[in-house]
Amino acid sequence: MKMINIALPKGRLGEKVYGIFEAIGYGCPTILDNNRKLIFENEETGVRYFWVKPSDVAIYVERGAADLGVAGKDILLEHCPDVYELLDLDVGKCRMCVAAQKGFRDDLDRTLRVATKFTNIAKNYYAGQSREIDIIKLNGSIELAPILGMSDVIVDIVETGATLRENDMEVVETITPISARLISNKVSYKFKYADISRLCSKASDYIKEG
Ligand code: PRP
Repeated sequence: MKMINIALPKGRLGEKVYGIFEAIGYGCPTILDNNRKLIFENEETGVRYFWVKPSDVAIYVERGAADLGVAGKDILLEHCPDVYELLDLDVGKCRMCVAAQKGFRDDLDRTLRVATKFTNIAKNYYAGQSREIDIIKLNGSIELAPILGMSDVIVDIVETGATLRENDMEVVETITPISARLISNKVSYKFKYADISRLCSKASDYIKEG
């Protein structure tokens, strides 16, 4: 029997997603042991799981180290990995937004300074509006940039909105909704088609049932 290799994002989202796989018959009980192991397999169900950094999942899948993986739509939009997007798992829901300090007024005659981790998403969004921008690439705590006057707006993920609220900021525009997606390596999809499509349709039914 061929094993299906699945890259899961480390953390709360990954545990939730593993719950879906377990519920549809791809359990691997040792995975919830609290240790530092990174690879877990269950020969009976034919799955091998890897815990990887969420932003790296698509790299493992694109290069074929994993057949399947779970990645946020934000990562897929930002890096456009050469993979198939099979299914919206309907978890990890949030939205990609433009946000600014409360009361911010955009001056369309000036270049807009945009702080973000998601430089490609921001560039594409503003290119679509023919707006000239100056991108400031940051790696975290993006909300600080407008507070310190380093940028006019930010392009970032908003989940509960608490970070914005606590920093006197607000959403200016929603760029796109985000959720976790099941992705597949393109070669694996061909050679493990039966196994992958069985898993995918079970997951799809499970999600539809709510
Ligand atoms: C993300 C995002 C926001 C926050 C939004 O940051 O960049 O800062 O979560 O969530 P909320 O709307 O529920 O407050 P993350 O925690 O990933 O850390 P980061 O600052 O390193 O990006």
